[in-house]
Amino acid sequence: MNIFALPPRVIGVESVAEAAQVLGLGARDLLLTNEYIYDLYFKDKGIACLTLFQEEYGFGEPTDAMVDGILAGLGQLAFDRIIAVGGGTILDIAKLLAVADGARSVEALYGNARALKKTHTLVAIPTTCGTGAEVTNIAVVNRTRLHTKDGLVSPELYADCAVLVPELLDSLPYKVFATTSMDALIHAAEAYLSPQASPLSDMFAEKALQLILRGYRLVAGRAADVWKDYAPDFLTASNIAGAAFSNAGCAAVHALGYPLGSRFHIPHGEANQVLFAPVLRKYEEKCPQGKLFALKMLLANLLDCRMADAFERLFELMDGVLVRKAMHNYGVTEQDIGAFVPSVLESQQRLLRNNYTELTEKDMLAIYRSAF
Ligand SMILES: [Fe+2]
Repeated sequence: MNIFALPPRVIGVESVAEAAQVLGLGARDLLLTNEYIYDLYFKDKGIACLTLFQEEYGFGEPTDAMVDGILAGLGQLAFDRIIAVGGGTILDIAKLLAVADGARSVEALYGNARALKKTHTLVAIPTTCGTGAEVTNIAVVNRTRLHTKDGLVSPELYADCAVLVPELLDSLPYKVFATTSMDALIHAAEAYLSPQASPLSDMFAEKALQLILRGYRLVAGRAADVWKDYAPDFLTASNIAGAAFSNAGCAAVHALGYPLGSRFHIPHGEANQVLFAPVLRKYEEKCPQGKLFALKMLLANLLDCRMADAFERLFELMDGVLVRKAMHNYGVTEQDIGAFVPSVLESQQRLLRNNYTELTEKDMLAIYRSAF
């Protein structure tokens, strides 16, 4: 039986000042963010929160070492709520802190996944338009000792409240807009094609695709800051794509993209874009009917084109926002590809079980070769 859950309360406000007022931010709140975000949006607001800046513990996407350092750094800080303001990294770290309850390592949290209990109220405020992490029940950490990114999933990882503040996207560079919105688009497509999809998750996925593709058609090929005119739509799309995949799951694109992120440090949405077209083409080759047919019909409608052209028109539009590069441009070699497939099969079954149709080892190798 498919069920649909959206546990966080979702609030939309115009500005950081309004968010601070609605949430009643104060001295018992721990604001987890990046220092530049704090300086830009919070410093002059007279908010008396405790602060913790991620970059004091490491840069980039979350690693086990970074989270272990933050857990140790929390020390005896006394706070009731965690207010996480940032991209997927910040929100994922905050989810782990909210359930840490004295645990001092990522290893301990992953080892105790079934018994996690949230001990701090969590408010998640995204500053990118991609991860949808403010409404998902997963935290993804690069477990450097295992050489892979690994998702920790638990209902205890849901935020209590998600706040959408378009003002926070003002400082987002174009490249981050492009890679994160690409991720949101792929969340929606993978959720829509997932065998775990339900009519409710489909509604969210379809609306996210509609908002992102309408925005992309207005943005592609135009000046780098035009997307900001549509920032509220992209932020909403990211949020509802997050709700869709939190319920229906992501699949092969995310699974096959993980080695590109963990080993070659390609931004998550960009890595997914590299594999998105080859995966959809493989799905079409193997099983053109069913939900894939419905996706093509939806895309043809959104892109004003024939169903037969829908996927290629979609890939062209995505390239117009962010040019897709072949994997060898990132330093990936043919030998690497041979090692990717067993690694993905071993560590990404959580995602692979949501594949639209079965992909064999040979299929996965062919997908990587076609993206090479
Ligand atoms: Fe993603």
